[in-house]
Amino acid sequence: MARYLVTGGAGFIGSHLCRRLVAEGHAVRVLDNLSTGKRANLEGVEVDWAVGDLRDEALLAAALRGVEYVYHHAAIASVAVSVAQPLLEQEVNVVGTLRLLEAARQAGVRRLVFAASAAAYGNNPESPKREGMRPEPASPYGLSKVAGEYYCRIYSEIFGLETVCLRYFNVFGPRQDPASPYSGVISLFVKRLLLGQPPIIQGDGEQSRDFVYVEDVVQANLRASQVDQARGEVYNIGCGCSTTIKELAGLLNQLLGTGLEPEFAPARPGDVRRSLADISRACAGLGYAPAFTLTEGLARTLEWMRAANLSN
Ligand SMILES: NC(=O)c1ccc[n+]([C@@H]2O[C@H](COP(=O)([O-])OP(=O)(O)OC[C@H]3O[C@@H](n4cnc5c(N)ncnc54)[C@H](O)[C@@H]3O)[C@@H](O)[C@H]2O)c1
Repeated sequence: MARYLVTGGAGFIGSHLCRRLVAEGHAVRVLDNLSTGKRANLEGVEVDWAVGDLRDEALLAAALRGVEYVYHHAAIASVAVSVAQPLLEQEVNVVGTLRLLEAARQAGVRRLVFAASAAAYGNNPESPKREGMRPEPASPYGLSKVAGEYYCRIYSEIFGLETVCLRYFNVFGPRQDPASPYSGVISLFVKRLLLGQPPIIQGDGEQSRDFVYVEDVVQANLRASQVDQARGEVYNIGCGCSTTIKELAGLLNQLLGTGLEPEFAPARPGDVRRSLADISRACAGLGYAPAFTLTEGLARTLEWMRAANLSN
């Protein structure tokens, strides 16, 4: 039985990861300050809680005792907050990550997997995105994620703490905060469709995203902690397929049995036009293989929204 620490384990992605680890019989500790995460996300799941801030060195040392693998998800995962409070973003996402790396090194952790982001590519128009492309973060959030990656690599190279960075694209699924800048559009469309209102598309609807179902992201994390050759590497984690916002609205209409033509509003300034992951490195290096189509993932998400009564 391995001991795992999941930072940000009370959040959207972290809670799915914790649930899977516990289901597989592992001992899991969660470090989370419950700022956007919730205890309810882990209701009925037996985890050891370390409630507090990632930047608290004493808490980190205690939380890492006996831990072999760390999955690092705690962060301020909001572009808007990072623009409003860039210093806070730097403190939590960069200094917090560095403190965690240092504490993990001292605690003799075997491997740390870092939740990096497609925000590293920023507005680079090249498509699909490949890991070797020069990072061009366009927000303090994107920059903080790139800095986290570089610290991970440096700790791998200099200190021998094994690290793996996973650049997530647009993760979606149950328990996602509808305000998420990544896939909040799904919740917004669903809410309107169920009220009999047309979805509102900002821009021409031809902007596209690589939507990846959260269980596939969990799969990538499990592989990243286990595959030997992954250490020191960076991998894109998406579905490897592109969906326009217009197509997304059509798909949701179909799944919900509504037939509401979208309405169009002015484009959001700075909206990335195309975001598509080249996942060949993750497939070859990690043995990663997305198991959920967008339709399957959306169907499961809708089921959860209905059960949680979030859709009305
Ligand atoms: N959702 C996506 O599509 C996506 C895409 C790319 C990268 N990511 C990254 O994945 C990770 C998880 O994202 P998410 O969507 O689950 O977001 P989330 O907000 O649900 O999860 C983040 C968690 O970190 C916790 N946290 C925040 N600040 C903390 C601090 N100072 N100390 C301790 N805990 C703190 C929050 O309470 C929350 O539980 C983040 O690092 C995010 O940057 C997410």
